[in-house]
Amino acid sequence: MSHDSAPQPLTATAGLALQGSLRPPGDKSISHRAMILGLLSIGETRVEGLLEGDDVLRTAAAAEALGATVERLGEGRWRIVGVGLGGLVDPADILDFGNAGTGSRLMMGVVGGQPVTATFDGDASLRKRPMRRILDPLVRMGTEVVSEQEGGRVPLTLRGPREAIPITYETPVASAQIKSAVLLAGLNAPGITTVIEAAATRDHTERMLRLFGAHVEVTAHGPEGHGRTIALTGQPTLRGTDVVVPADPSSAAFPLVAALIVPGSEVVIEGVMMNPLRTGLITTLMEMGADIERLRERDEGGETVADLRVRASRLHGVDVPPERAPAMIDEYPILAVAAAFAEGTTRMNGLHELRVKESDRLAAVADGLKANGIAHIVEGDDLVVHGDGTAPKGGGTVATHLDHRIAMAFLVLGLATREPVTVDDGAMIATSFPSFLPTMQALGGRIAP
Ligand code: S3P
Repeated sequence: MSHDSAPQPLTATAGLALQGSLRPPGDKSISHRAMILGLLSIGETRVEGLLEGDDVLRTAAAAEALGATVERLGEGRWRIVGVGLGGLVDPADILDFGNAGTGSRLMMGVVGGQPVTATFDGDASLRKRPMRRILDPLVRMGTEVVSEQEGGRVPLTLRGPREAIPITYETPVASAQIKSAVLLAGLNAPGITTVIEAAATRDHTERMLRLFGAHVEVTAHGPEGHGRTIALTGQPTLRGTDVVVPADPSSAAFPLVAALIVPGSEVVIEGVMMNPLRTGLITTLMEMGADIERLRERDEGGETVADLRVRASRLHGVDVPPERAPAMIDEYPILAVAAAFAEGTTRMNGLHELRVKESDRLAAVADGLKANGIAHIVEGDDLVVHGDGTAPKGGGTVATHLDHRIAMAFLVLGLATREPVTVDDGAMIATSFPSFLPTMQALGGRIAP
């Protein structure tokens, strides 16, 4: 969503307990990857449960512009007929990724590894985000950066080589987007492309590459949460397949925390993906005393999913170790909200990557807490929130800076503060959780323009 229209303020007001069940939308990370691997494979890919948020629709449009046939069959049901590795065409137009960091960065990996030329652009948020981290390894793989904005920002144009150069790349920051861009470019490299990450990040690209027929070897350096080496054998034949998208734990996080902080609530959140590289928030909340039960654990599309029964809970402050950040990188804004209701101090350590998300999330969260009378301090890259176990005052207006997760986190805050909380613009919620408003309203949450 380029979001040229007028801002859409929303206000959340405390009310009765939240009750009922919901199924959050499909996982954003998996939805982007399904579109991209659908494009790169031969034959038909059918996707069930795709997130039809603006970010993923941008990736779908880009896949189409690069040669795929992309068709919506029904709610969340999509069909992609790919062109296969080597079959991509030059897009006729700029690829406009709107707000989507993941879509744009992963597609840079695709274009950077194939003999095509494409220009990437996005909204004011995306234009601020660092792309050097993606361009650096791609240049080593033979990608030409035809043009870029200062500091490696979009709009930028890439021209891929006839064949990519296989490299071994140690990612400088724990980022699934960097890892994925290198692996996607490596698909067109003769030989083995290796990514070494010091801390394991979400592994959806590796899993899905295998599902489509690539050979990927993963070696863990240590216990879960530590590093991994991922080795992809280049130039496989990728074949279209069926993909079932589980519910997004990063979207589930908002009703989940709402149920914890609104007194008397009991909510069941269905089909949530429990990939251990995504469940850092649940681990942390349970350490804080949250009453979260994992029910009906089962397999859905190669991932473990569970229904989560969440009951309002008395929370206490904890220290969140920096090693946990990759498994909950998108969940710190909503964790800060939970921390505001906890008794004692919650220290979230090592949040430097939050500064380069859809907004500077560390600053945006701190400003939002301040506007609502919540005691906190930013110490370097750490966020420290102090609570006394009672509902904070609220009453503030929060600047969302084109960031969907800032908008949703502070609306959840307002469902339990003493005074209503307003966010200046809820439009970007449509990038990842288009049904957020009706979903929260159906549980009894009072959120309205
Ligand atoms: C994502 C990776 C994360 C995350 C983003 C989705 C992905 O970004 O914040 O929302 O799908 O690969 P980084 O890889 O930059 O940490």
